[in-house]
Amino acid sequence: MQISFLVFLCVLVVNFPPALRNSAFTISVSAPNFAERKGFVKKITFLYKSAMLKARLKRTAILSAIALVIGGGIGFYQIQNETARVTQKASSVAPMAGGAQVGGGFALIDQDGKEVTENDYAGRYKLIFFGFTFCPAVCPTELQKMARVLDQLENPNIQPIFITVDPERDTAQVMKGYVGQFHPDIVGLTGSREQIDKVLADYKVYASKVENDMMDGYMMDHSAFIYLMSPNNALITLYPAQDTAEQIAEDIKKRLNAS
Ligand code: NI
Repeated sequence: MQISFLVFLCVLVVNFPPALRNSAFTISVSAPNFAERKGFVKKITFLYKSAMLKARLKRTAILSAIALVIGGGIGFYQIQNETARVTQKASSVAPMAGGAQVGGGFALIDQDGKEVTENDYAGRYKLIFFGFTFCPAVCPTELQKMARVLDQLENPNIQPIFITVDPERDTAQVMKGYVGQFHPDIVGLTGSREQIDKVLADYKVYASKVENDMMDGYMMDHSAFIYLMSPNNALITLYPAQDTAEQIAEDIKKRLNAS
């Protein structure tokens, strides 16, 4: 009986978390005699239970924190993935579905604040890109590419045009300062919200406002094709973002020579 009590004490003390092992040991050795062991067993059991409870709470807290980190990580990954998917969708949906007519005339405002229509570029092919001046990456890249295409074509009968999908911020003045950075021939067109919406619809351009609290204001998610339009404003072809300036220039040469 006494041996089993000692074994019980030993097991308890060994099982104690290190921080509480000393107090458990003190209680067990300070027992005046084994007659009162029932009381000691109670005392130690209580101490053991509360220690285990604390340990369990601590474990639960740690596991919760880990779960929170993992959960948050998965959530973040899903948001990133979703953003990537939406962006990919935006730039891979070619506006030619259903054989619907793409293109047509337009009434907009150029970078000098002058009202323009397709008649201002009569008889010319057009290379058109839709975007916005606040665009951090895609638009500058595509406009640089457009400039390299123009440089590779010798005196082409092509009017390069940049049309904003964000007319609220891209005023004529903003457009003037922007397009000039890329190529002297590129005209920047803006307009009222209604004018821009009509062009976006006619040219089947995808553009959607994305609120972003971390950045100043908002971003525009938008399709990123370079449009080659005929002199009568019908779509000839679209160049996706992955096409290089060389590929586009070669293709335009072929098409213009064939026509
Ligand atoms: Ni852009």
